[in-house]
Amino acid sequence: MSEIKSQWNASQQEYRTEKFWGGDHFDLAMEAHHPGYLSFGYWRRESDGNPISDNIEACENLYLALGNRVGLGAESVVLDVACSMLQESIYLHRTFGSTITGLDCVNKHIEVGRIRVANANLEQHITPVYGSGENIPLASGSYTHVFCVEGTPYMDRSKFFKESHRVLNASGRIAIGECMVRPSSGFLFEKLAAFVADAWQIRRENIGMSEQQYRFLLSDAGFRDIQIEYIGKYVYTPFFINDFKELGRMIKVRGWHAIAKVFHNLLCDLSFRLGWLEYAFVTAQK
Ligand SMILES: C[S@@+](CC[C@H](N)C(=O)[O-])C[C@H]1O[C@@H](n2cnc3c(N)ncnc32)[C@H](O)[C@@H]1O
Repeated sequence: MSEIKSQWNASQQEYRTEKFWGGDHFDLAMEAHHPGYLSFGYWRRESDGNPISDNIEACENLYLALGNRVGLGAESVVLDVACSMLQESIYLHRTFGSTITGLDCVNKHIEVGRIRVANANLEQHITPVYGSGENIPLASGSYTHVFCVEGTPYMDRSKFFKESHRVLNASGRIAIGECMVRPSSGFLFEKLAAFVADAWQIRRENIGMSEQQYRFLLSDAGFRDIQIEYIGKYVYTPFFINDFKELGRMIKVRGWHAIAKVFHNLLCDLSFRLGWLEYAFVTAQK
């Protein structure tokens, strides 16, 4: 692969996001743990209500459930924002038959994804684009759906919602897999929230956003029929348990990063149990 250049300057959030997600420590994780999927996963199969015990299946199950909620199909033209290495976009195309543009602000992800798409012989159906969800470098009115899993904590949500609204066609829909740090207070919450935001390069203003504020931002961007469905109990606890079970294998591959990740997942699970953290499927209509 030729040298990967950044389009961001040091004052931009995308620069920090790219440094974080494009870091070498993630490379081993991608291939060894869950090839290309970076989401928490949705660990309950909707067809029969049974739990899922495999990380890849849980991630695919999340994309499936969210795609079903907005009626993705073969006619859909989808902008997959925060697509990472396009494995998610490949899954969406193979599952729903949709045409996909994958957008991510980490050039390394996009370049790895470009090779994946070529290897899968899907260049006719999936187009990788390097850019930001806050300033989408694509034409207005050109998509039936905007799909975004776990990208919004890194973005100015207001800008992302307005940009999504712009690129959607008149009957377009948005579907978001959303990590929500809920409003809370107290020394422990504040210290932990600040630590997680800094460690993961999450925008501070997204920490503690209420559902009311969130709905306001969506409707201010022009969206209506906003549905927010909380599924945290099928996300954080099983994700932590699964990683804990895999710890021995993962230490051999990732060293101390594997331990740090399990610790991070434990913090997420505890935060969920304390009511500080939720996971939501958000859908809305243009
Ligand atoms: C937790 S990962 C989720 C990736 C993918 N959706 C998945 O489920 O595997 C978050 C992703 O958001 C991307 N991201 C963060 N800020 C972004 C922005 N402003 N524009 C586009 N992508 C962004 C990151 O580069 C990263 O790939």
